[in-house]
Amino acid sequence: MKTLRKVIKWILIVIVCLFILIQVKRPARTNPAVDESQTIFARTQMTPQVAAIFNRSCVDCHSNKTVWPWYTNVEPISWFIVDHVNTGRKNMNLSEWGKLDSGRQDRKLRQICDEVTDGAMPLSTYTPLHPGSKLSPAEVKTLCDWTAAERARLSGTAK
Ligand code: HEC
Repeated sequence: MKTLRKVIKWILIVIVCLFILIQVKRPARTNPAVDESQTIFARTQMTPQVAAIFNRSCVDCHSNKTVWPWYTNVEPISWFIVDHVNTGRKNMNLSEWGKLDSGRQDRKLRQICDEVTDGAMPLSTYTPLHPGSKLSPAEVKTLCDWTAAERARLSGTAK
């Protein structure tokens, strides 16, 4: 019994030391500067309802205006979340929408509707810690109606 307790104690000490050790090399949490004239909000004809959906459910991973809660500074969570944000931004950065040519904007608009219709976005790792970020069927429709209208406008077929 006594040796078992000793072993458990040492295992705990090792775990605590490892936890402290991995805090040393945290990945950088960045928020690059935003040129407001290049954002999706400035470059498209967006309704306040659509802007609210993006702001509530997407901008933390798909813009340069990420809100970083305290736990994103704790390893190994930090590593996991910083990676998600960096990959999210690489796939689609709503703060740098103006950098895309109209063909790529069109493709991203289509993907936005596809991803939310499939329920793939916002990521399921995000929604539990951000109550209210999940989209209702009505909000998915609002988003898809808007992407359709915006794509028609881009291709010049809007009425
Ligand atoms: C927790 C972070 C996170 C949130 C929140 C999030 N995304 Fe993503 N998103 C990602 C990551 C990571 C990728 C790239 C990897 C992947 O496809 O899973 C991605 C990829 C995408 C892509 C590109 C898919 C492709 O085929 O290239 C689109 C479009 C997208 N997200 C839209 C959205 C929309 C719209 C929202 C809000 C309703 C949203 N995302 C919320 C992290 C996130």
